[in-house]
Amino acid sequence: MRYITIALAKGRLAHSTIELLEKIGISCEEIKDKSSRKLIFVNEELKLKFFLAKANDVPTYIEYGAADIGIVGKDTILEEGRKMYEVLDLGLGKCRMCVAGPASAGEYLRHGELIRVATKYPNIAKDYFYNKKYQTVEIIKLNGSIELAPIVGLSEVIVDIVETGSTLRENGLEVLEEIADLSARMVVNEVSMKMEHERINKIIADLKQVLQDQREQIDRKE
Ligand code: PRP
Repeated sequence: MRYITIALAKGRLAHSTIELLEKIGISCEEIKDKSSRKLIFVNEELKLKFFLAKANDVPTYIEYGAADIGIVGKDTILEEGRKMYEVLDLGLGKCRMCVAGPASAGEYLRHGELIRVATKYPNIAKDYFYNKKYQTVEIIKLNGSIELAPIVGLSEVIVDIVETGSTLRENGLEVLEEIADLSARMVVNEVSMKMEHERINKIIADLKQVLQDQREQIDRKE
């Protein structure tokens, strides 16, 4: 039996993803050791390999088949636009991709004005403004703290992730338009899906079951 390789996005998502995998009996103790510099972890019994990669790189590993299964945010999937199957919404890390700015910038959006848009997600921003709104804009790529841009006058609006909304609120900004709902997704290499369909489908089915059980538990509490 060959190894199935799972690529996990480093960062916020990794911890909850590992917990979810443990619930379906896929465990990898070593990956939890934060002091380790090891990059790849093996579960010999299950013939699985795991690695943690920069979120943006996960779709690349999957498209090229260097990993069979990936777990990564929908934001990264949309931004990277790689060829692969998105098979399951894990419901983790729920947030929204939004156009945000000061309330006064709403006018520019309503009138389709030529404005500057700062973002860490230039492809998502381009697709939204050009293909969905037919509004010509100038896109400025930034690497973080995007909310700064409209405050210091670099751009009129931003395209960014909004989770609780507190970063926007604390900086006098607000959601002006919603682009997409985001959460962690399971993605699969197209060839692996055919070659290893039995093992991969079992993982998908087990995860679906756990997610459904969790939902039912929450419903019962409410
Ligand atoms: C993300 C995002 C927002 C913030 C939204 O930034 O870019 O800034 O979280 O969360 P909130 O709605 O709960 O306030 P992140 O912390 O990942 O860092 P970054 O600014 O460097 O991208």
